Amino acid sequence: MESSITTGWIGLGNMGTPMARRLLAAGHPVAAYNRSPAKAEALRAEGATVAPTPAAVLDAAQVIFLMVSDDQAIRELFTGEQGLLQSPATGKLIINMSTVSPGISQEMTELSRAHSHNYLDAPVSGSVKQAESGQLAIMVGGEEDAFKQAKPLFAHLGKLALRVGPTGAGNTAKLAMNTLLGFEAQGLAEAVRFAQQHGLAMEDLLTLIKNSALASTFMTMKGESLLGENYQAAFALKLLAKDLRLAKAEGLDSPLANVVHQTFQEAESTHGDEDVIAILKHLKRS
Ligand SMILES: NC(=O)c1ccc[n+]([C@@H]2O[C@H](COP(=O)([O-])OP(=O)(O)OC[C@H]3O[C@@H](n4cnc5c(N)ncnc54)[C@H](OP(=O)(O)O)[C@@H]3O)[C@@H](O)[C@H]2O)c1
Repeated sequence: MESSITTGWIGLGNMGTPMARRLLAAGHPVAAYNRSPAKAEALRAEGATVAPTPAAVLDAAQVIFLMVSDDQAIRELFTGEQGLLQSPATGKLIINMSTVSPGISQEMTELSRAHSHNYLDAPVSGSVKQAESGQLAIMVGGEEDAFKQAKPLFAHLGKLALRVGPTGAGNTAKLAMNTLLGFEAQGLAEAVRFAQQHGLAMEDLLTLIKNSALASTFMTMKGESLLGENYQAAFALKLLAKDLRLAKAEGLDSPLANVVHQTFQEAESTHGDEDVIAILKHLKRS
């Protein structure tokens, strides 16, 4: 039988909450922290302990997961006044599952090493539904030994955990994946808009896509959102706009990527808090 590992979870947003819940359900104690404390209450009711600071999470757990928005959040969580590195503890494994730059992972690996901790970057592909059902795809950068230590925990979160290289390689893989996601979101929106402009029903086009070689989980999920006019963020448009900026900063400069980057940057101020598929609303306005 798998022995229980004390875990910490920082970042209880759309993704972090269901992921932390899965560790709890698998019998691993979870010490949880969220910047806005109210979001931790649901997990407390389910058996997690709520830690007052990131440093307290590190004190309480052997393996600490981070699932927050961006590079800035990661930097603050490590180096802030009550940040992880304020804890005197050593020898912990910190796993950053947020979508961030390879550069911040390299920096945080160095800082972690200076405090005798290990660090893995382990961003995920999949959204809230996959987080809830433990069907994420996890792409991991960092040392093999740390990856081996994390694998039993990853098994509760994803259908796949693949080590793709050293520190930052997981982040690079994720930026490649989300570039493709941007293509698909904009592509679906453009096809729907074209069909509607020519008098076709959106539902008919979506039924055709679903029954063609173009069918995918993403197309089906976002097709349902479009049909139900449900733009509530499962994956916020501003987060994809951030990922496309990160990919560009890593040197991605190619025809489709440049257009999709620009479209999402333009859409961010109006539709940033809605789901990525609100890109259709933006295209209809322009
Ligand atoms: N949603 C998806 O479908 C999806 C899929 C794959 C990957 N991702 C990636 O997963 C990460 C989390 O996404 P999400 O959808 O869960 O986002 P979300 O619902 O917006 O949650 C963001 C989390 O980050 C925390 N946070 C933001 N800035 C912070 C700071 N400066 N210090 C401490 N905490 C901070 C927020 O705390 P507060 O509650 O206090 O604001 C919240 O817990 C992102 O990197 C995203 O790109 C998302």
